[in-house]
Amino acid sequence: MADKAMTERLKTIRDREAADFAARRPRSAALSRRARSVMPDGVPMAWMAGLHRHAPLFVAGGQGSTLEDADGNSYVDFNLADLSNTAGFGPNAVTQAVAARAARGMQFLLPGEDAILVATELAARTRIPFWQFTISASSANTEVIRIAHALTGRRKIVMFDGKYHGHIDTAMTTGGAPGDNEPAVMQGLGLLPAAGADAVNVPFNDLSRLEAALEAGDVALVIAEPALTNCSLVLPEPGFLAGVCRLARDHGALACFDEAHTWQLAYGGFVRAENLSPDFVTLGKGLGSGTPLGAYGMSAAVSAFVEEHHEVADSPVRGLAIGGTTFASALSMAAARAMLEGVATEEGYRRIARLGNRLADGIDAIIRKHGLQWCAFRYGPRSGFCQTPQHPKTYAEAHHSMDIAFSDALRLYMANRGVWESIYSAGPQVSFAHSDADIDRYLDVAGSFIAELHA
Ligand SMILES: Cc1ncc(COP(=O)(O)O)c(C=O)c1O
Repeated sequence: MADKAMTERLKTIRDREAADFAARRPRSAALSRRARSVMPDGVPMAWMAGLHRHAPLFVAGGQGSTLEDADGNSYVDFNLADLSNTAGFGPNAVTQAVAARAARGMQFLLPGEDAILVATELAARTRIPFWQFTISASSANTEVIRIAHALTGRRKIVMFDGKYHGHIDTAMTTGGAPGDNEPAVMQGLGLLPAAGADAVNVPFNDLSRLEAALEAGDVALVIAEPALTNCSLVLPEPGFLAGVCRLARDHGALACFDEAHTWQLAYGGFVRAENLSPDFVTLGKGLGSGTPLGAYGMSAAVSAFVEEHHEVADSPVRGLAIGGTTFASALSMAAARAMLEGVATEEGYRRIARLGNRLADGIDAIIRKHGLQWCAFRYGPRSGFCQTPQHPKTYAEAHHSMDIAFSDALRLYMANRGVWESIYSAGPQVSFAHSDADIDRYLDVAGSFIAELHA
């Protein structure tokens, strides 16, 4: 279909579905009006207001893979709070452990045995030996960057176009690579350009651009998502991730893989799948299953540096600027332990990979049925409509693989039929709580959307 006709058709579907969506959610609308009198945009966290681009939705609760809104509508959730709650909702091993832990105290600012068990399990899975815990993946990456600065005595941080590592000033940048001839540009209001002075962003899957960025010998850290997961899905080319570690090491820089998303795509993450030995690996999101938790693993050498430079109360010499009073809480450590022991098990990962394959096969079948020049994203439990014939290899290519008008229309169409679609920049992902019936439901509704779009 010609672009103009497609744009019109998407708009027609979107307008119709948006009206239906709003009409069937009067209580959410009333709550939103009330909320606006005490919170900007009527939301407790500003990002919630811009994320979905439709009438406000207030949530009441959830059970397994299904969430329920304030009007009693239910949805099979393929977004999972952007992978922050892959254990699912309601009674499960994590919520039971959290309830038991809460009854005996949630935070003490003292270590408990759960922390040892979680660190031991993460070390066994990733083969990264030492661990620290924070409140989010953003704060884990912040600490990794600080340790890298302190350990190397260097300033620059190299990242890859299309990444997201959290709301960290240096990481919220584009550009700044040698050859760009301009400093990095800040990606948000309120970020001072000074923070961009140390930021270097190079194309993903491009080792020669990475090498050029490392050549001056001023790079403290190379940080990479092993697969770009915040701009559709861009998988690493064979040898790329090992090349990142090798080049960083050869140039005296440290390497970090941010597996906040990708550890939920494969047991032990990409570091295990590709037998990688970076200096750091970052985790978060579903590890805490909705409780605030981030984590970073480090090599023995980095751990020794952290031990040598920890902050000592009232010492004239300041230590590393890391840690916080609600970090590594007893509550979040109990959640992580239950997640690892009872939900995100090796068997659990095998199951979500099987369901993810079914989802991707089903999406491919829809694409073929309508003769589209698209393909399904696929990696373990992650899938979605890739709107180019081949999978993207860079951020620039990823841009063409997704379309916000398509995503907006699909989201509303699916929500009105009981499926909560992923956010625009991601794709539907199977959680540990999904069933075969949930996959059938997704494919059924997505199939009828595409059929209407291409009728
Ligand atoms: C790869 C990656 N790292 C870090 C973060 C930041 O996570 P959080 O918002 O939980 O701090 C995200 C969030 O989307 C992410 O995708």
